[in-house]
Amino acid sequence: ARLSVRDALGAQSTSGERVKVQGWIRSVRSQKEVLFLHINDGSSLESLQVVADSSFDNRELAFGSSVEVQGQLVKSPSKKQNMELKAEKIEVVGNCDATAFPFKYKERHPLEYLRQYPHLRCRTNALGSILRVRSEATAAIHSFFKDNGFVHIHTPIITSNDCEGAGQLFQVEPSSKIKMPEENFFNVPAFLTVSGQLHLEVMSGAFTQVFTFGPTFRAENSQSRRHLAEFYMVEAEISFVESLQDLMQVMEGLFKTATMMVLSNCPEDVELCHKFIAPGQKERLEHMLKNNFLIISYTEAVEILKQSSQNFTFTPEWGVDLHTEHEKYLVKHCGNIPVFVINYPLALKPFYMRDNEDGPQHTVAAVDLLVPGVGELFGGSLREERYHFLEQQLARSGLTETYQWYLDLRRFGSVPHGGFGMGFERYLQCILGIDNIKDVIPFPRFTHSCIL
Ligand code: 4AD
Ligand code: MG
Repeated sequence: ARLSVRDALGAQSTSGERVKVQGWIRSVRSQKEVLFLHINDGSSLESLQVVADSSFDNRELAFGSSVEVQGQLVKSPSKKQNMELKAEKIEVVGNCDATAFPFKYKERHPLEYLRQYPHLRCRTNALGSILRVRSEATAAIHSFFKDNGFVHIHTPIITSNDCEGAGQLFQVEPSSKIKMPEENFFNVPAFLTVSGQLHLEVMSGAFTQVFTFGPTFRAENSQSRRHLAEFYMVEAEISFVESLQDLMQVMEGLFKTATMMVLSNCPEDVELCHKFIAPGQKERLEHMLKNNFLIISYTEAVEILKQSSQNFTFTPEWGVDLHTEHEKYLVKHCGNIPVFVINYPLALKPFYMRDNEDGPQHTVAAVDLLVPGVGELFGGSLREERYHFLEQQLARSGLTETYQWYLDLRRFGSVPHGGFGMGFERYLQCILGIDNIKDVIPFPRFTHSCIL
């Protein structure tokens, strides 16, 4: 029977049956009469120890080579592992040129170094753990929504709208090799989506609670540690929600429930990050999980920033967007507990946010969640469900023509509703303590870089 390394390590009994395990060699140690190999196939952080007699010793059994081992699983005499494989047959599937291979046995390479090898870095312990956590977190998020009665919607990747109105669009056109009789493939300019929100709003008008979790694209001209040109966003939209409070409850629930699931489903992988990549992160994360998230208004946030003695590069001022340095300061000020900042100036936000009708300092029912180490993790709002308010907003933004269909939603059974989006890579950075967003996605895309 073929077994994964994970299943081999977890086997409860030694049936005496012959098994086959395939993977890549992570270490070779030869002693007088025995040869020890560790092989890994990505199914777990731990590698399987293979014990062979020294007659198997050969130059091709080197770090990085792929092998197929047949033999018997036996209880390991060592406390380090449960089972080991007594090899009867070892076949090198593909040998590895160790002199040219960029990773060295037993060396802990910095993430920055690994980033130069997007086609090979997944074979290291660090990226292996991060990407397994990513996979578990994806499943945890889906299960949170399923358990809470949300319907999963595939929102389109190609769209003709710019939901956020920020103009950070990638335009989609057929390659110049394709001859089109018309001048435009879709008849209208089309773009890669910056957010599935507007499509989710359509669906929340039928399914009440919906979510989407897919790739999102922004032409961010930024080399920062928290921006990518292609990232994954988790978005939810909920009908009959009347207050930001209700929305914030779902956001906090999603963060905490998904994180607890990840911690219990892949503790070794999380531990690797917490121990070797981001020391102290275990405690920082526990602190986030055991405290209730805080809530402050945008106006209060600006006051806190103004009263601080810190010299900001950008002077905090009411009516101006919060910068990363401001977000980081606010989170520290809040004792490193995630903090919701609510009720932003109307002038700073897209057309769809609900007007708070609160006089001269005109705000909308927007909410951002700021978290330690990352800053903004979620953005959300109540949506303007009142026909006339929305009509005015669209007119103000010159979007009346474009969004007739969106206004229609307010004509045909409109309901108060709201939603949010969470940057999935920033979420992973936040729980694992990974400094650079490029290290939590298999193939990062950013300005001047689209390798592979
Ligand atoms: O705050 P944003 O722009 O909100 C929206 O797009 C809403 N339409 C979502 C909604 O209400 N359905 O983006 C949401 C989150 C941000 O808080 C951030 O975590 C992440 O997406 N994000 C990025 N992550 C990586 N790289 C980028 N360039 C990002 N831009 C936004
Ligand atoms: Mg935002």
